Amino acid sequence: MCGIIGFVGKEQAAPILLDGLRRLEYRGYDSAGIAVCGEDGLRVKKARGRLQVLSDLTHAGADLPGVLGIGHTRWATHGEPNDVNAHPHVSQSGKIAVVHNGIIENYAELKGQLIAKGYTFRSETDTEVVAQLLDYYYADCQDFFEAMTRVLNAVEGAYALGIVCADYPDRMIAARKDAPLLLGYSENGSFIASDVTALIRHTRDIAYMDDGEMAVLSAGGIRVYDRLMRPVEKEHHHIDWDVDAAEKGGYDHFMLKEILEQPEAIRKATAARIQEGRVVLSDLAMTEEEIRSIGKIYIIACGSSYHVGMVGKYNLERMLRRTVEVCLASEFRYSDPIVGEGDLVIVISQSGETLDTMAALREAKKRGARILSIVNVVGSSIARESDDVLYTWAGPEIAVATTKAYSTQMAVLNLVGLYFGDIMGTVSYETYTAMVRDMQQLPEKMEKVLKDTEAIHALAKECADKEDVFFIGRNLDYALSLEGSLKLKEISYIHSEAYASGELKHGTISLIEDGTLVIALSTYEPLFDKAMSNVVEVQARGAKVLALTTEKHAADLAQRVPMVLSVPEVQQMLLPQLGVLPLQLLAYYIALERGCDIDKPRNLAKSVTVE
Ligand code: AGP
Repeated sequence: MCGIIGFVGKEQAAPILLDGLRRLEYRGYDSAGIAVCGEDGLRVKKARGRLQVLSDLTHAGADLPGVLGIGHTRWATHGEPNDVNAHPHVSQSGKIAVVHNGIIENYAELKGQLIAKGYTFRSETDTEVVAQLLDYYYADCQDFFEAMTRVLNAVEGAYALGIVCADYPDRMIAARKDAPLLLGYSENGSFIASDVTALIRHTRDIAYMDDGEMAVLSAGGIRVYDRLMRPVEKEHHHIDWDVDAAEKGGYDHFMLKEILEQPEAIRKATAARIQEGRVVLSDLAMTEEEIRSIGKIYIIACGSSYHVGMVGKYNLERMLRRTVEVCLASEFRYSDPIVGEGDLVIVISQSGETLDTMAALREAKKRGARILSIVNVVGSSIARESDDVLYTWAGPEIAVATTKAYSTQMAVLNLVGLYFGDIMGTVSYETYTAMVRDMQQLPEKMEKVLKDTEAIHALAKECADKEDVFFIGRNLDYALSLEGSLKLKEISYIHSEAYASGELKHGTISLIEDGTLVIALSTYEPLFDKAMSNVVEVQARGAKVLALTTEKHAADLAQRVPMVLSVPEVQQMLLPQLGVLPLQLLAYYIALERGCDIDKPRNLAKSVTVE
């Protein structure tokens, strides 16, 4: 996903822009560029490749003097990654530069109209249309802000925009619709950025733009207007992340740092929500009556967040004794869903900006459902469009492959199950107290599992040369196998499938041959014997089995399979909270052995804000 940074103030802009873009690299990109307004007008430099190429090209920004500028890292959607398609895009007059995150859906139509008016386009991008259209309206009305209003009325689709004009060397314009953009306030000047990590070194005083808003930034401050050009007072947020929280903290990769941060992340997600043995969701506005009268329950998400929903289905159905439907957001949004008044839709998203998930949320809301979202990024779009939001408080998650956000989402969903079940009277006192007790002990048990990194690294070395891997499990182990498989695929590029063990005999077992690696999950006690039958089944066909089980069965399994990983006993609904840890580490170390780019896997972005 693209990254945006903009600054206007009392310092040279270019070094600030390059630093901000460096902190946005984790979002995934293929080209980068900056534009600066200085005494000799507007200057733009951009290049395909890593940010270092741009920095070298501009002598670390020294070649672009000026106190007003915008910067961009591009993750290609329209037009291949190259210097021409990189942002910023410049208007034909040479006066206007634009950076953009999102997709202008009617760009082809607008481009045709502009070409008919004599405009020529250099790039294949949708973004260049914004620069040329603004140029056209500005030449027509001679009022830059009026021209901007016309552009925003003409374009359709999603945009976070940063715009500078040589005629206004003291101010920048920003606008946002369906793509995140935040404002930064400081004595040194004003900022725009795609997310906090880009400007946390310069300011902690931020505000999130809302859809339809336009902002005018100058060294002295920021003025925000709604879509009718009425002034808007923005709520400020103070970001209390410490700067190194967004840095690697001495680890080789953000992913390893974030895996090992999970016990602390779980503490943060749960401590304030368990008081004197009771689950307290003070950040939930739903009344007890509304909870008791909930109709259908849907969980909607993408990727790993969807996998949290798969675990949540088993646990919430167990606690609430009602059907919970888990849907992929990209399917739900186009399925003419049967959802409406009284139904509860739980939306799960780490970034709070995933476009498919946002679209599914809006579809459900339009049909009258109540939206409860579980989100990590405070103030993100999904959070702000939900009726209730429970933040996971996992802190910045930089690695593209999610770990601590997945775990904290799951913990919050378990708390929701207990809270609702207590109100609905469907969860027993024994289960409730056991769950609360074990949730409070989770961080300690997680730390015990995470001590085993070297043992897991040793197993990873035995698995790193595999090209096909099967994860199998039943019930909660099946739900967990989905996440174990995705973690392995997305960072090691090994083909992997997750299967409900009972499904093997319905076709997939034909793929098991001598040496095939099967990671058999068998932590769920009620089906342990069944899980063992499946182990025997695949071993009979030559599979090499790595078993994940509880400490109770570890010694026995070590006699039966060549590789065993185990987790401490815990209330069974919390088994995935422990079981995911060795699977994350296994994927991490296999990717390490294969020399993969672990924090920034190929083709992936941290937040998918395009379809
Ligand atoms: C997780 O490892 C993946 N990078 C991806 O599946 C992610 O979970 C998915 O894109 C959803 O993101 P979200 O939680 O920010 O909505």
